[in-house]
Amino acid sequence: MKLREMKKIHVLVAYTSNFGSTSEIANEIADVLRQEELVVDLIDLKSNSDISSLMKYDGIILGSGIRMASWNEEALNFIKINKELLKEKPLGVFISSGEASNPDTYEKAKEKYLYRILDEFQLMRPEVIYEAFGGVFDFSSSSNYSFLEKKILQRIADSSSSGFVVNDGKLNDFRNWQLIREWATAFADLINSSRLKEPIQSQSESQV
Ligand SMILES: Cc1cc2nc3c(=O)[nH]c(=O)nc-3n(C[C@H](O)[C@H](O)[C@H](O)COP(=O)(O)O)c2cc1C
Repeated sequence: MKLREMKKIHVLVAYTSNFGSTSEIANEIADVLRQEELVVDLIDLKSNSDISSLMKYDGIILGSGIRMASWNEEALNFIKINKELLKEKPLGVFISSGEASNPDTYEKAKEKYLYRILDEFQLMRPEVIYEAFGGVFDFSSSSNYSFLEKKILQRIADSSSSGFVVNDGKLNDFRNWQLIREWATAFADLINSSRLKEPIQSQSESQV
């Protein structure tokens, strides 16, 4: 058996989520990667920001929910702290947002929440894939939103540029699970092809 077939590929899927929608997306991505026989560490950055070393990972996926037109702080900090290392590894970045839920505002969401961030931290390069996934608006009776959060969300939804469509009293789920699974598979392909470009020598060294 060749050396590159013997070494398992190790991936980190790190995410932050306010109400669980991004967390469920990250779980789905991790499941797909495991089906592709990658070894996956799935880490919620809100409860575990202290990831001792990223060196052991062959690739990294980072996801954030969007709130008040911003990434979650813990996900942004993760980029700030690790930006040099993130430039060296296959990287997948995704967000879950209201604006990405509507085809009319999807490109704007990508621009605001992905291109700008990747550009700011100089992370844009061929071995990076990124996607804006639709989100969840929970106006049902079992919603975890506070009164204020419902008001804020309704106000953003009412503004002409948001593109949100929210129905009071209902749980609206705009996540496209097929797109999410295809994106995870694209990441597995990316990491497999970048492993194939590595010299056999360095792979044998990494096993010692
Ligand atoms: C209080 C609040 C503010 C939000 N602000 C925005 C926003 O500014 N832009 C946006 O695209 N989506 C916004 N959303 C929608 C969320 O991005 C969407 O619900 C997403 O699924 C959240 O994922 P999470 O629960 O994993 O954080 C907001 C949601 C809430 C509850």
